[in-house]
Amino acid sequence: MSTAVERLREGKPLAGFALVVTGHFLTDLVHLVGCLAELGAPLEAMTVLRKDYAYRWRHRVHGHLADLGVSVCDAPDPDAVSRHTERARRLGLRCLALDDGGYVVPALLDHVAAGLRPQAAAGLWAGVVEQTMSGIYKLQGREQDLPFPVFSVAQSRLKGRIESYWIAEKAVATALELLPATKIEGQPALVIGYGQVGTQIAALLTQRRMRVAVHDADLLNLIDAHESGYTTARELDTLLTGHTPLIIFGATGRTSMSTREFQALERPAYLASVSSRDIEFDLPALIALDPTAEATPGHFRRTHRLPGGVDVTVLAGGRPVNFHETDSISNLHSDLVYAGMLTGACAVAAGHAAPGLDPAWADTVLEESGLLQDYYERYGPPTTPKSTVPTGSRR
Ligand SMILES: NC(=O)c1ccc[n+]([C@@H]2O[C@H](COP(=O)([O-])OP(=O)(O)OC[C@H]3O[C@@H](n4cnc5c(N)ncnc54)[C@H](O)[C@@H]3O)[C@@H](O)[C@H]2O)c1
Repeated sequence: MSTAVERLREGKPLAGFALVVTGHFLTDLVHLVGCLAELGAPLEAMTVLRKDYAYRWRHRVHGHLADLGVSVCDAPDPDAVSRHTERARRLGLRCLALDDGGYVVPALLDHVAAGLRPQAAAGLWAGVVEQTMSGIYKLQGREQDLPFPVFSVAQSRLKGRIESYWIAEKAVATALELLPATKIEGQPALVIGYGQVGTQIAALLTQRRMRVAVHDADLLNLIDAHESGYTTARELDTLLTGHTPLIIFGATGRTSMSTREFQALERPAYLASVSSRDIEFDLPALIALDPTAEATPGHFRRTHRLPGGVDVTVLAGGRPVNFHETDSISNLHSDLVYAGMLTGACAVAAGHAAPGLDPAWADTVLEESGLLQDYYERYGPPTTPKSTVPTGSRR
């Protein structure tokens, strides 16, 4: 991030913008906000939308932002984006968001559609940078309505190729730690969603010597999984009954299991979601199948007994397991995507892009930005100065 700021800072490209930053309250958010300020973004005009996960340092991160004069709102607050836009208008600034999960664009489009406050159309918004696929899914079918460019770090090669492994690694390690003492080797596991993250989860579970089955609604991905050696089936139910998984990872970003799928379970199973919020497993449907279920506040391993006696345990309350009482991925890992977000914000602020969602634009900007060169220099093979190589060692 710091290297990206050095490259981008000339002329303070974010000086005229009131930023919305949707944030996981991890310590890397502190540096992200600091970098945005160095790029010119006024802190007193900034709003951070807080994602409500149980991170260890969340209260201290909040306190730090408050000290800086940044406004903090809950991400699901339906009026947060409107209030921010109104304040920016009063301050004579334009708005730009670094979003994580689609909290900003749908809110703006809904306001326009309802004829409430045509803030987006009024040109107050320069654009949005989105970092997750769940945010991109929320735009599906509404691309034509976008009055500004959306810079999709979510769909970029940079994020998909490199970050997915880190997420999968943390998710698998955390989920397996949350299991009661269990011997996992040789046991069946199921991965639903063989996309960027699911592919890595399936590989990691195989390395842990589990027998892995994969389901994906997309036939090409299913063929890929089959030819990679996994047990696969077109119907999810077939794997639930036939493969009898001990642990099920959901990495679709949608709701992959509901009443019918829960009822297909024939042995006690643990559910681990990687998708944003708690959408992957239809928890109300699961609770409805177990009318005796009672909420146990603060207890994240919830077991429901289905009719027929099968126990289903939802790990981490159905929320992403890699966020559970841990720091998702380390700051050194999130650094790359956050540097991509900073690069995207400056590209949006430059104002040259057409309205709409064009993933190729983001890929081009990111790959021409110098970010990957920086990364390779930092983490790639060491360069040995020629003068230090002894002559005798040359072939
Ligand atoms: N926990 C984290 O730190 C973290 C980080 C990034 C992304 N995510 C979440 O993980 C999700 C997956 O990310 P990704 O990059 O792998 O996305 P992706 O689009 O590459 O993969 C999703 C896969 O799920 C499949 N799918 C969609 N709906 C399905 C359904 N109902 N049944 C079966 N398969 C279905 C798709 O065909 C696709 O192959 C995202 O939506 C996001 O919510 C979480």
